[in-house]
Parts: sequence; structure tokens; C-alpha cells
Amino acid sequence: MTHDPLSGLALATLACHTGGVHGTEYENSPPIYATSSFCFDSAAQAAARFAGEEPGNVYSRFTNPTVRAFEERLAALEGGEACIGTASGMSAILTTVLGLLASGDHVVCSRSVFGTTVSLFTLFAKFGIETTFVNPVDVEAWAAALRPNTRMLFLETPSNPLTEISDIAALSALAREAGAWFVVDNCFCTPVLQRPLELGAQIVIHSATKFLDGQGRCVGGAIVAPAELVKQHLFPFLRTAGPAMSPFNAWVFLKGLETLPLRMQAHSASALTIARALAAHPSVRRVYYPGLEDHPQHALAARQQRAFGGIVSFEVKGGQAAAWRVIDALTLFSITANLGDTRSIVTHPATTTHGRLSAAQRAGMGITDELIRLSVGLEETQDLLTDLARALGG
Ligand SMILES: Cc1ncc(COP(=O)(O)O)c(C=O)c1O
Repeated sequence: MTHDPLSGLALATLACHTGGVHGTEYENSPPIYATSSFCFDSAAQAAARFAGEEPGNVYSRFTNPTVRAFEERLAALEGGEACIGTASGMSAILTTVLGLLASGDHVVCSRSVFGTTVSLFTLFAKFGIETTFVNPVDVEAWAAALRPNTRMLFLETPSNPLTEISDIAALSALAREAGAWFVVDNCFCTPVLQRPLELGAQIVIHSATKFLDGQGRCVGGAIVAPAELVKQHLFPFLRTAGPAMSPFNAWVFLKGLETLPLRMQAHSASALTIARALAAHPSVRRVYYPGLEDHPQHALAARQQRAFGGIVSFEVKGGQAAAWRVIDALTLFSITANLGDTRSIVTHPATTTHGRLSAAQRAGMGITDELIRLSVGLEETQDLLTDLARALGG
């Protein structure tokens, strides 16, 4: 038996050492294979590679060494068998649904997911895939929404932007009983803080655009899933439909993963301090952060996650005008819709990330016009606290 040098290593070590890809120059940093296609020794080899009878690179829509290195590293961190890199987080969801489901299938989805994810599941209806949206924290509501043709349960936890926590273990049991795929978008936690596969999920989705990159440079996504599922359903969809990750972006994400364990701990520590300060501020009506003891699912988050993450949402008193005044007064927080960057970010969900939903949908999700979402970056926490206190007045 050959010794696997990476077996038994901690996550931080795997983040630096899995997914090795080496060129011919003995470089320590992995190369970017910036090529659209790969050459063959002979016509016979080309035929064998195209037919999948011989392993090897063919064409970068579906085989590229830099993308593969990123896929192997993320799969190792999530504790999954296989991974597919995609062009964006949304195309990871698209690939998962269109790769696994067919017209006549039904999905149960958390109503508290990224706004565009709601739009995408709504759009699938025109292809005969119907979705029921449910309260993500109410296991009975998930059970009640199941139908004989339910083939997938989908959620984010913590949810975006209200940081509601779903019970992954309980819902995975429900999904198994129903014979449905259980898919978790692990964007907010990353495998550093939460490993859904260990809790029974079968598939993990990422927007690599967020914490995996960690410095707001590239758009990308990923699916971590059982090897057989990837081989039979997800890879064929990627190869045919083409929502591929670029080699350059894969290289950025591969390097991003090396610092992910350190960054996630730092984002979480700073966010907890900021959440506590906001909760004590007279201009703040309510804070949403799973690390606060009065968060409705604090105990579940403490059990399911290793720390509470870098996203804090809060409502200010005074409606949308007050929320916009605070956003405009901040100087260290960029006004942008991304999250998971080294630089802190402030977002008004009702008019941006969730702006394409109807007012009734937003109300159903609990997203008010007073809500502000922070992605706490890696600046000195005290500087962020000072900026927030000044913007809030007081
Ligand atoms: C939780 C979550 N999932 C998926 C996405 C979509 O990712 P992308 O923008 O990379 O397509 C986002 C984007 O904000 C997100 O926040």
C-alpha cells in the first residue's frame, strides 16, 4: 500500500498542500495553464481522450490542470470525493439542478437564500421544475412541503442576509427519507467553519467569488459532490453546456484557499466584536449575528459551526432613509454587493442583492428597508468600530 502523505493532516495544512500541480520549472507556486486546448501524440490518442478511454487533458471547457488543482483542494477541505469548478456561484447552482433534475421534479428551497438564487429556482418553473420556498429554520415546514416528486432540498446556512441557521443534520435525515438530494450553499462559512458533508449533506455549493477568493478579484463557483454523481451527471453537463471556470480564476482561488483558515478566524473574531457593539447602540433596532447569545439559533450555530462568520446584518431606526444615511456616512466600508473581501463591505439588501424580489417576497423573508448587511473585512477592528459609531451618530 502506498503512503498518502496528506492523510490525517489538519485543514490548514491541506489548504496549502492539496491540489498540487507542477510545471517543468520546479516552481513553488502552481502555474496557470492558460491554454484553450491540449495536444495529442497521435490521432489514436486524441480519439481515446475524447472518448474518455484514456485520462488526460483535452480542452479547457472541461479539463484544465489549474482548474483541477483548485477542484482537488476544495474537495479535500470539504471532505468530499470530487469537485467541479464553474464560472460563477450561480452557474454552480444551475449545473447542479440541470445536471440532476428533470421536468416534473420538485424542489424544496429555503426562502432565505441569495435573491438571485430565488430568481433562478423561480425560472426553472418554465422548464417544469417547480420549487416550494419554506422557512429555513422550521424542520416541520420542510417536511410538510415534501411531495412524492421532491428530488432536491436546497439551503444556505447562515442565510443571506439575515444569518438564520438551518439544522443540516435534521434536514439531511429528512432528505434521505424522501430520496431527495440535499444541497447546501456553504458560501458564508466555507469548509473552515462548517463542513455540511460531515453533517449528512450530499452536495456543497460555493460562490468562490466570496471568501474562497477572499480579496474580491474574480467570479467563480464550485460544486463538491460524490465522485459517481460528478462522473454520471455533473461533469457531462459542464462538458456539454460549458459554464467553465477560467484557469486564471482557478489559480486565484487556489491561492486564496491557502489563507482561508486564517482569514475565516479573523473575519469571525472581528464580526463578533462589531455585532456586540451594534447591539448596544441606541440607533440600532436589531442585530442579526449567530454569535450573539440572543440569536434564535445561537446554540445550533455553536454546535454546527466552528466560529460564527464574517457577515453581520442590522436594522437601524428610521427606515430606508436612515439606512442609506448610515451607508453613505461610512468611510472604511465599500458600498458594493460582494462579500468575503479583505476590505469591509456595506450593502443595502432591499435595493440591491434582493432588489429584484417583490416587496411581498422580501417581507416574507424578513428583509426590511432598514436592514444593512456588513461583510467584516480584515482591517483593525477598532478602526471599523470607530467608523460605524461615527456613521450611526454617537
Ligand atoms: C450565498 C450565495 N450563493 C451564491 C451566490 C452567487 O454567486 P456568484 O455571484 O459567484 O454567481 C451568492 C452571491 O452573492 C451568494 O451570496
